[in-house]
Amino acid sequence: MSADLDPARIEALLAAHASPIGRPLHVVAESGSTSDDAKQAARRGAPHGAAFVADRQSAGRGRMGHAWHSPPGENLYASWVLRPRVPARLLPPLSLAGGLAVLDAVRELEGARLEPRLKWPNDVLVSGRKLAGVLVEALLAGDRVDAVVVGIGVNVRARAFPPPLDAIATSLALEGAGALDRGLLFSVLSAALARRVAQFETEGVASLAREVRAADALAGQEIAIDGARGTAAGLDDEGRLLVRGADGVLRAFAAGEVSIGTRPRGA
Ligand code: BTN
Repeated sequence: MSADLDPARIEALLAAHASPIGRPLHVVAESGSTSDDAKQAARRGAPHGAAFVADRQSAGRGRMGHAWHSPPGENLYASWVLRPRVPARLLPPLSLAGGLAVLDAVRELEGARLEPRLKWPNDVLVSGRKLAGVLVEALLAGDRVDAVVVGIGVNVRARAFPPPLDAIATSLALEGAGALDRGLLFSVLSAALARRVAQFETEGVASLAREVRAADALAGQEIAIDGARGTAAGLDDEGRLLVRGADGVLRAFAAGEVSIGTRPRGA
């Protein structure tokens, strides 16, 4: 496994970035899915902040049951066990925190070199192509949130993608980023995720929605969501996507898969 995923080095980076999450840290050469590892650990009582990182995933999962391209030596595949103090009904907009955290981390590491944008609810795009995806899964105990597993995949060193991803995906390397260190990215991302989840807990979804609006990759674009078409018109204060249909009516979507124009998923 490459030196950038050395666990002792990552522990030091987590401390240097004062990240309250990312520990206990489990780094493996291969996993089915780090989110499955995290869920299993959460069911066994893993604490808030426990993290699972793999150099490669054999069954990496994306949203809506899609596979996540997870070759070795290239990208960051990480999942965190979180135990946020929020009622289950408020969980869907928590996914905005994951996307914003990736945005924060890329901005912190790359400054103004890249201009990452958010494709609601939590895809991170650079130059209109997908750089990162976030998968939020909850373990519920009745209407109580027992744990939330936030799984994040960031394309870091990939120089090429197999079809059909080649038409829609990008990586930090392809975008000319300076830092291609997955351990550093994981540490900065851990600190950012902790801050964004705390913001969600203390200030609520409206404050996250405001920041997503400022980096919205969809605003003004013709989109399709769950069979409906229209023009993306930002987010409301509950974090729902607003879409104006051809009939002029504004509709709010709390969940769904968005495609832009006539391009395929992820674009
Ligand atoms: C998406 O955009 O559809 C979400 C992709 C999430 C991928 C990450 S990689 C680490 C974690 N483990 C998984 O199996 N999925 C998430």
